[in-house]
Amino acid sequence: HRDRIRSVLAASRLMPVITIKHLDDAVPLCQALFDGGIRVMEITLRTEHGVEAIKQVREALPDAWVGAGTVTCVDQYRKAETAGAQFVVTPGVTKALLDFALTSEAPLLPGVSTASELLLGYGLGYREFKFFPAEVAGGPRALKAFGGPFPDAVFCPTGGVRRETAKDYLALGNVLTVGGSWLTPEDVVARKDWAQVTEIARASLSDIS
Ligand code: 3PG
Repeated sequence: HRDRIRSVLAASRLMPVITIKHLDDAVPLCQALFDGGIRVMEITLRTEHGVEAIKQVREALPDAWVGAGTVTCVDQYRKAETAGAQFVVTPGVTKALLDFALTSEAPLLPGVSTASELLLGYGLGYREFKFFPAEVAGGPRALKAFGGPFPDAVFCPTGGVRRETAKDYLALGNVLTVGGSWLTPEDVVARKDWAQVTEIARASLSDIS
């Protein structure tokens, strides 16, 4: 489980958090991100299209890592797995989710924002976490502080991270990847400006290189 989630994080420094409002957008949007150099994508289950979008993008982009985000219960975890999600991201942790994930082919990146939540995952062998909501939960300073008691834990901060602040997080030794919705701005997606999506991805990757 751990090796597999580590490979996902190691594959990309940026992870777009994608919410699909119109199913027809899923493949062209993710193709545009891929063309801009993005190799790992989180498609959230925040809309009714999430599961089907994962299925379609997996088929269309066999060389990308496609995961399910905003998974909040085991039932959704199962649906994400069935759709072909290669990893699962949750905004927080429950014992049920942490236990179930260890039996799943799709590894979990569990969301935490406190030391207690970290301890819950830590005890079960988790060392890779999403730090959410990163900006309001203390930003880079909180992650630096977690490095004390949890020296071998690594994080993907999301929630309020922007193109301008991605670098501050990635400069930390315990941050492998940062995530967020800034890579797929709502207005750009609404006008289906896929060239612009590719450009934002390329520029964001170039900012952090
Ligand atoms: C998430 O689920 O990771 C966040 O909603 C992404 O946060 P952002 O929209 O502030 O980037």
